[in-house]
Amino acid sequence: MASDRLGQIVEDAASEVYLFSVEDFTFTLANRGARENLGYSMDELRGMAAWDIKPELSREAFLELVQPLLSGEKTMLEYETIHQRKDGSRYNVLTHLQLIVTENDTVLYAAIQDITKQKEANAALTKVSARLDAILSNTTMAIFMMDDKQQCVFMNRAAEELTGYRFEETAGRPLHDVIHHTHPDGRHFPIEDCAIDRAFPENHQTQGEETFVHKDGSFYPVGFTASPMKDETGKTVGTVIEVRDLREELRARNAEIEFNNALKTKIEEAMAERDRLEAQLVQAQKMEAVGQLTGGIAHDFNNLLQVVGSNLQLLSKELPEGDAKRRFVDNAMAGVSRGAKLTAQLLAFGRQQPLEPKPQNLGRLVRGMDDMLRRTLGEGIEVETVISGGLWNCLVDPAQLENVILNLAINARDAMAHHGKLTIEVGNAALDDAYTQNHPNVAPGQYVMLAITDTGAGIPPEIMEKVFDPFFTTKETGEGTGLGLSMVYGFVKQSGGHIKLYSEEKQGTTVRVYLPRTQRKEESAPLPATTDTPTGSGEVILVVEDDAAVRETAVDQLRDLGYGVLTAENADSALAIIKSGVQINLLFTDVVMPGKIRSPELAREAKAHLPNVGVLFTSGYTQNAIVHAGRLDEGVDLLSKPYTRERLALKIHEILSRQTSADTAPPAAEAAPSTDDAPKVLLVEDDALICMATADMLSDLGYVVTEADSVAAAERSLQAERFDIMFTDLGLPDGSGMELVQHVTQLRPEIAVIIASGADPREYAEGDAEAGRYVSLMKPYDEHSLKRALEQCKAAAE
Ligand SMILES: Nc1ncnc2c1ncn2[C@@H]1O[C@H](COP(=O)(O)OP(=O)(O)OP(=O)(O)O)[C@@H](O)[C@H]1O
Ligand SMILES: [Mg+2]
Repeated sequence: MASDRLGQIVEDAASEVYLFSVEDFTFTLANRGARENLGYSMDELRGMAAWDIKPELSREAFLELVQPLLSGEKTMLEYETIHQRKDGSRYNVLTHLQLIVTENDTVLYAAIQDITKQKEANAALTKVSARLDAILSNTTMAIFMMDDKQQCVFMNRAAEELTGYRFEETAGRPLHDVIHHTHPDGRHFPIEDCAIDRAFPENHQTQGEETFVHKDGSFYPVGFTASPMKDETGKTVGTVIEVRDLREELRARNAEIEFNNALKTKIEEAMAERDRLEAQLVQAQKMEAVGQLTGGIAHDFNNLLQVVGSNLQLLSKELPEGDAKRRFVDNAMAGVSRGAKLTAQLLAFGRQQPLEPKPQNLGRLVRGMDDMLRRTLGEGIEVETVISGGLWNCLVDPAQLENVILNLAINARDAMAHHGKLTIEVGNAALDDAYTQNHPNVAPGQYVMLAITDTGAGIPPEIMEKVFDPFFTTKETGEGTGLGLSMVYGFVKQSGGHIKLYSEEKQGTTVRVYLPRTQRKEESAPLPATTDTPTGSGEVILVVEDDAAVRETAVDQLRDLGYGVLTAENADSALAIIKSGVQINLLFTDVVMPGKIRSPELAREAKAHLPNVGVLFTSGYTQNAIVHAGRLDEGVDLLSKPYTRERLALKIHEILSRQTSADTAPPAAEAAPSTDDAPKVLLVEDDALICMATADMLSDLGYVVTEADSVAAAERSLQAERFDIMFTDLGLPDGSGMELVQHVTQLRPEIAVIIASGADPREYAEGDAEAGRYVSLMKPYDEHSLKRALEQCKAAAE
């Protein structure tokens, strides 16, 4: 019964059980689980052998497999194979095979376990761990694991590379003792201080940067994260440590810091540069403003001095020779001269002194001053002059430049306390863009450089900015007025030059003056002036002056000099006198006067009515009379206020003698071409003085000139007459000369155009499509350059 029960249990069991014959290995019994799983009925199975459901095993292979059982060598076999169901599907099985011997039978008993799921799980596990292995060994992050005893249980390949140790060498050892035992300064690093080793006992993640010791003994910086490792129950069982090499990163960080620092320095430099240029600009603007103010004051002051001086001279003539009161007059006169000197310096600083620039060889000029300098400087000072060969000429007022050199030399003498060496150098210099970019208000180009160097006390940096200021002096009261360098500065600027100071305390000072080069040759030296005061013989002079006091003293002086005098207080009444037909030999007029008619126009009208009349302008303020950039045009006579009786007498005499020789010379008009075929010029210029001087030059060159003082007047003339040339200024009172030029070049191409401007042609011609259609003439121009421009026009027309 027991066996029946067992049989039933086996039949009902979920696992597969088979019995098969030891003779032919066909199935003799299969329980329900086996039948259902395989899909065969018992009848079908009886006709099948064991290998028929084992697609991997052939009959021979199966026989060989079971041989140890059959031979009694083994009592049980256990093997894995595959079973194939009736429907063709397969499953993995673990088979326990036993030979069972009963009294009357011997069978093979097979208990089958379906291990498909287990196999799949194993395969999946293998795959996961292979992937994990791949990750761990290919990552560049060094990974370590420590167990609950803080001993190393894992190191990936990157960890081996980083530390220099193989896992075998660290396995089972506290990692700290292997790779983190010493500080870079050689001190022992106790494990208790180690943040990495705290992660496990304190059971939280730690992060930071540390320095590890390589197997070769070298130190290297690392960044780490140490995390407690938990098992599936959540129990902390060890630590996993990720470590990255910080060497590259630190290098990059340093590079970044260096880069940032470099950037910062660059920015700071650029800002400092900007501040420096700004300061230079502010300084230049300050000088400009103070200059204007000074010029204005000097103007009024000169008028006052004129009145005082002239009256003193008249008074002195009234006093008999040897009169004790003469002393007072002489003292007062000395005061006037001092005042005149002062205002002249102020005007020079204000860039408003009348300059008569001439082409100069500075070498010759400096050598000519040698004696005078030695006398002025005294025996204690050695003077050396170095003139380079092939020196260019520069355009400068020689008398004023001598004054500048003298001033600089005296400054040097004072700085050297009468003992030392003064070196004067003259040479050619080209100021390039790089230099001029750092020095606002300097144009690049060719200059003649004059350097004066002393071995004196030097200029302290804190006063360097101030030395050019008018009235700035460090000298005792009465020893210096502080106008020397101001005058030098104004003169250099007015001459289109540049001045630069270099100084070192206790070492000395160099002043460099750059004056613009000219291509023109030096003129022959003027004849020395006569010393006698020339007088008149009844020639008539018309004095036009709005200031009554000045007018009266001028009248008195002129009468005293033997001239007949007529007076007018403005240009309108002067014109009335001129038109009345009365004989006038010379018009003596103030430049700046109230009223509609301006002095240059008056002069022109006078010449029109009285062709032989001489004209002498006078002014205390030369801003507009001095045609351009403060330079006196050729052919214009100017007597600066305040003037002495002698200078007035000399100037009047000079003009009158010129007039007489012109009278006696064969009339120039005869030689000039007849006005009918003479080329016609439309002269557009609002500054009457320039207009007058230019018209004179053009007439002398045989041109017929029509004047226009505005765009409107020019347009009117263009409508009414035929012209060969239009000669125009750019800044006109009622519009832009440039528009006028464009208008003419486009609509009247037969008219050649000359633009005369104080601006550099590069400025206004830039980007102008019309630029090739006119000739540019830079102010100030003289007859020579005017002629060249006219020739250029002619050449372009042919
Ligand atoms: N070569 C130099 N060496 C040292 N300091 C100088 C030199 N040149 C000028 N200075 C300084 O610049 C100041 C101004 O010079 P500046 O020539 O304008 O006036 P001054 O010499 O004091 O008086 P003035 O020239 O009117 O008699 C001087 O007082 C002096 O401090
Ligand atoms: Mg001085």
